[in-house]
Amino acid sequence: MSIQLNGINCFYGAHQALFDITLSCPAGETLVLLGPSGAGKSSLLRVLNLLEMPRSGHLNIAGNQFDFSQKPGEKAIRELRRNVGMVFQQYNLWPHLTVLQNLIEAPCKVLGLSRQQAEERAKKLLTRLRLTDFADRFPLHLSGGQQQRVAIARALMMEPQVLLFDEPTAALDPEITAQVVGIIRELAETGITQVIVTHEVEVARKTASRVVYMEQGRIVEQGDAGHFTHPQTEAFAGYLSH
Ligand SMILES: Nc1ncnc2c1ncn2[C@@H]1O[C@H](COP(=O)(O)OP(=O)(O)O)[C@@H](O)[C@H]1O
Ligand SMILES: [Mg+2]
Repeated sequence: MSIQLNGINCFYGAHQALFDITLSCPAGETLVLLGPSGAGKSSLLRVLNLLEMPRSGHLNIAGNQFDFSQKPGEKAIRELRRNVGMVFQQYNLWPHLTVLQNLIEAPCKVLGLSRQQAEERAKKLLTRLRLTDFADRFPLHLSGGQQQRVAIARALMMEPQVLLFDEPTAALDPEITAQVVGIIRELAETGITQVIVTHEVEVARKTASRVVYMEQGRIVEQGDAGHFTHPQTEAFAGYLSH
């Protein structure tokens, strides 16, 4: 099992955002978190690399284990984030660095790769994500779709076992959305485990091998992609139908 959550409760101050979340996802699957705005999708995604710290429960992801009855150590959190990459909704690229520099920064600093090793890795990913022409450009001189692909390439530079995406197609037009969907499907072939937050049913249908449907901080339904054609709850059926 690549990801296992048991009894996760998460709060923002007094406001509880996640209630008793229990889910599992085998390695190599593409898990989509679906649900209306405010359901807790982003919060749950952020728990997976401990950008949000649950108040209770257990997390096991990419071989890293946490029991939130104790405060996780900094070292354990750093180790987790080496194995679990994140592609942010706002891309979060460094504006003062070129595309290539954005890619090699963390692998050099965090993994201790030489500049040459990092550049070799970067060039392969730039080719794979069809970005070779943009290596020396600055992020602000790229379209939204190109920046999104750079953000994906940058996360892949760390060779994570799990890759997290928050609304990867939110700000993109249909053609670019189709490209990002294509990239996610290509990545699925590589054996990486992906977790994707979206509120777009079509994106979910096209990428998911597993689905979790959430409302108001709770999982309403979860299972394999068969749930898209045979939803088990009225709530998920209703969500799919509009
Ligand atoms: N940083 C935060 N501080 C306080 N409340 C938050 C914060 N982030 C999210 N919330 C609240 O937690 C709930 C779940 O939010 P979120 O996980 O962003 O949902 P979704 O991604 O499904 O739209 C919402 O009620 C939201 O207002
Ligand atoms: Mg969100």
